[in-house]
Amino acid sequence: MTVIDEPQQEQTQEPTQEPTSEVPHGHPRILALANQKGGVGKTTTAINLGTALAAIGERVLIVDLDPQGNASTGLGIDRRNRSCSTYDVLIGEAPLREAVVSTAVPRLHIAPSTMDLSGLELELGTTPGRAFKLRDAIGALNNNVSPDADYTYVLIDCPPSLNLLTVNAMAASDAILVPLQCEFFALEGLSQLLQTVEQVRSTLNPNLSIHGIVLTMFDSRNNLSNQVVADVRQFMGEKVYKTMIPRNVRISEAPSYGKPVLVYDLKCVGSEAYLRLATEVIQRERELRVTH
Ligand SMILES: Nc1ncnc2c1ncn2[C@@H]1O[C@H](COP(=O)(O)OP(=O)(O)OP(=O)(O)O)[C@@H](O)[C@H]1O
Ligand SMILES: [Mg+2]
Repeated sequence: MTVIDEPQQEQTQEPTQEPTSEVPHGHPRILALANQKGGVGKTTTAINLGTALAAIGERVLIVDLDPQGNASTGLGIDRRNRSCSTYDVLIGEAPLREAVVSTAVPRLHIAPSTMDLSGLELELGTTPGRAFKLRDAIGALNNNVSPDADYTYVLIDCPPSLNLLTVNAMAASDAILVPLQCEFFALEGLSQLLQTVEQVRSTLNPNLSIHGIVLTMFDSRNNLSNQVVADVRQFMGEKVYKTMIPRNVRISEAPSYGKPVLVYDLKCVGSEAYLRLATEVIQRERELRVTH
């Protein structure tokens, strides 16, 4: 994997931080939504987990790291309001704060993306530290001067690929959250993803962990869906969240209105599931802090 191959050297030039036993004050928890498979629910989970976390009091920033810009569109950010985007941040032309725009959801902000991002890999070429562009940008984000304005969670929406963008997300993150669609090929590709996480851990980011696996588009009436759930739970054990996101038409309708499903229809089963997932994520965070 060429994107990860060189960073051994990069690490000597630019050492990653020592593992910390506690989350320093003012440092957000950084979670990447990653799966190189397309259409498994990464963006839907970024938007709706972000909204649910904000609804229960967290201050959340979504970083749109996909040139498709679905998270930005799904949160109603017009293309005209993306004059400063994650591309400008990663290329080093703007601090992350400058790209951030607020959404209709209180405490939920987004750094939007544009198609420009698709050229980033070529443009950065062999620039030293190219895998750490996002980590450095997020590192400078919270200023500690007004902790009330600082983010407590950063959720990174990755593209469906294990490219430089996803590697930047993994190098910047505390943990990975993997959406897995309840379909026949669900487990296919998971081992490749876990291998990439392992490579990033040993070269770029020793603190990286798997936060959990969230099963998406679950349909209890479908035997195959039930079988996939059983297989994934057997294979990944405790890493799989108890909460499953059901297949729900309200979830798929919401983005065309530029709204998270929790705003579009708070009472639907999809919204309830994402609220439960947020509670579970926070619970797991507490456990991680106790065990570290
Ligand atoms: N629980 C759900 N119920 C019904 N539809 C869903 C659900 N979750 C996601 N979808 C729909 O499935 C499609 C793919 O979801 P999404 O865009 O979140 O996946 P993704 O992994 O981000 O895709 P990509 O890899 O292209 O970035 C979208 O049309 C979305 O609205
Ligand atoms: Mg997506």
